[in-house]
Amino acid sequence: MKTINVALAERSYPIYIGGKTLDNSELINKHINSQQVLIVTNDVVAKHYLEKVERFVEHLDYDTYILPDGEKTKSLANLELIISRLLENKYSRTCTLIALGGGVIGDLTGFVAACYQRGVNFVQIPTTLLAQVDSSVGGKTAVNHALGKNMIGAFYQPQAVIADTDVLHTLPDRELSAGLAEVIKYGLIRDELFFIWLEENIEKLVQRDEAALTYAIERSCINKAEVVAEDERESGLRAILNFGHTFGHAIETGLSYQHWLHGEAVGCGMLMATDLSVRLGLIEEDNLYRVESIIEKAGLPTKVHQSVTLEQMLENMKVDKKAKDGVVYLILLNSVGNALITADYSSEALTETIEKYLQ
Ligand code: NAD
Ligand code: GLY
Repeated sequence: MKTINVALAERSYPIYIGGKTLDNSELINKHINSQQVLIVTNDVVAKHYLEKVERFVEHLDYDTYILPDGEKTKSLANLELIISRLLENKYSRTCTLIALGGGVIGDLTGFVAACYQRGVNFVQIPTTLLAQVDSSVGGKTAVNHALGKNMIGAFYQPQAVIADTDVLHTLPDRELSAGLAEVIKYGLIRDELFFIWLEENIEKLVQRDEAALTYAIERSCINKAEVVAEDERESGLRAILNFGHTFGHAIETGLSYQHWLHGEAVGCGMLMATDLSVRLGLIEEDNLYRVESIIEKAGLPTKVHQSVTLEQMLENMKVDKKAKDGVVYLILLNSVGNALITADYSSEALTETIEKYLQ
């Protein structure tokens, strides 16, 4: 098992990564400092892993809240329902919440933990690759509003993250590929050696080789932990973690959040960002072929086949969180392993890039 520390002074916490971490009762109990525990999960994950987690806390006063699967679960209505359950059961400020699931459950449970009695402890047990390498780490918690995704939330760090690579065996192929998009992101934005390793090992990752997955999750979490330690609340550097996301969100919005998973849109968005970097003369063209090749091998789409228009893409990009005074800032590449944030690009180059990937 590997342990990575997210260094945030008194809010620091460990990320445990490896096979069978969910068989280690001591690991989780070290981070539960109370008698009252609420496990929050969904109906898909519960079938596979709830019993295992319940066994850890059976000596405590624990309860379980099982939500329906899907992005719609990340709602204010569910936040209120969970808080009602905590109040009905007289949970105190010293209780601990356990988020058992993917990013949806992690984001919602984290935000409940941030809100309940102005903040209680929570532990993340991420069960998707995306959650293990991204959403469970770094303290972004949120629910969606009808007018915008993740529009109600808080920065709130967990007590620990327990990432068991064994749970990835039940993950559907598309979900694994979606997680790989975020893994590839770390190589591209700040870790050239990791990107080279990924080029050599992408097939093993798709085949769910345990050693390869553990290494990829570890390097991803190291990269994310370093960025978060430097810029927890995204006043600057942390924005590089959104590489490919401005294009990706525009695709997701264009598809009304149907057809494509978030990671699939991010994968194609990273291609667009790399293509634009080439057009602007920031990087050599052969790097674009490398990115295209790894995205394809990861099982991710490289073209938007559905009906999203250039005008929709440009419009959707304007509502990005990085937009300031109407200017859309983009994360681009100076080289493989080195990202920059910039608004210094021509609308012609941007248009050519988007048109290339829309069909
Ligand atoms: P998800 O939580 O919906 O999980 C994807 C699917 O896999 C679901 O159907 C889920 O039930 C299923 N599943 C989960 N674990 C499984 C397992 N081990 N075996 C079989 N099935 C399993 O989606 P996700 O991709 O994990 O997360 C997406 C969410 O994360 C979005 O809401 C996004 O906004 C958020 N997110 C947050 C951050 C952050 O920094 N907080 C970063 C990226 C994404
Ligand atoms: N997923 C982007 C971030 O955590 O900042």
